[in-house]
Amino acid sequence: MNGSQRFSVRDKAILITGASSGFGAHFARVLAREGAKVGLAARRVDTLESIAAEIRQAGGTAATVKLDVANSASVKEAVKTIADEFGRIDVLVNNSGVSIAKPLLEQTEEDFDAVLDVNLRGAFLVATEVARRMRVDGKGGSIINIESILSFRQAGQIAPYAASKAGLTQLTRSMALELARYKIRVNGIAPGYFATEINQGFFETEGGAAMIKRMPMRRLGELEEMEGPLLLLASDASSYMNGATIVVDGGHLTSAL
Ligand SMILES: NC(=O)c1ccc[n+]([C@@H]2O[C@H](COP(=O)([O-])OP(=O)(O)OC[C@H]3O[C@@H](n4cnc5c(N)ncnc54)[C@H](O)[C@@H]3O)[C@@H](O)[C@H]2O)c1
Repeated sequence: MNGSQRFSVRDKAILITGASSGFGAHFARVLAREGAKVGLAARRVDTLESIAAEIRQAGGTAATVKLDVANSASVKEAVKTIADEFGRIDVLVNNSGVSIAKPLLEQTEEDFDAVLDVNLRGAFLVATEVARRMRVDGKGGSIINIESILSFRQAGQIAPYAASKAGLTQLTRSMALELARYKIRVNGIAPGYFATEINQGFFETEGGAAMIKRMPMRRLGELEEMEGPLLLLASDASSYMNGATIVVDGGHLTSAL
């Protein structure tokens, strides 16, 4: 097998959550371009449908399904729909996420629950549901959790988000430990800052501009810069990677104190 074959995702059935915008929509386009069959899942089905139509027009294979990761019945139904559509699921990109930015003492119980319900509990529900199917299928698979550099460091006003992502990084490792026996690998990608809906407006503020100045590369990431790690973890090129988190942050985690 040569290098490009090792990195191939051709014909793999890949479920992507939160595929209606930002990273998720980009991941769906990239994986379809590389020959994967992509299942796009999120709450905004109209948006998913227009991305899927664009993928099909370019010769790719795409299916869509409504999914609220905070609702276990919706998770079961969506995973079944995509598994039925493609015959199985080889790869999960567990990408849905939300953030509520407020000073700590203004964060309410509802705010905390809303963030944890999607970023941690939701990620757990989707990953375990997909893993159960992969176990029955017997062919193994790859689960990719989209974590954050906030799994490892802090920033003001997003305590629930940082806590949820730190939990998700631990979940990646726990799942890797228990699922290896079924040939299911579980790894994470921890992005630094990329301009998407989740941080809309922040980088136009004084605080956002100051943050960019503290980044070693003095700039945000570009969505294309996530493609290499994504293809690595989705393909057999990462066959001996399990429980790892790949940081894609331009060196932000190493910024000077
Ligand atoms: N943009 C960044 O700088 C950055 C950095 C680190 C990590 N991340 C993570 O990347 C992931 C994608 O975020 P993004 O930056 O593309 O932002 P985004 O807001 O564009 O995307 C988030 C996606 O999650 C979906 N989502 C939210 N709640 C959901 C629910 N209950 N059920 C199903 N889907 C739901 C949204 O519909 C959307 O498609 C998130 O997990 C986020 O935490 C982003």
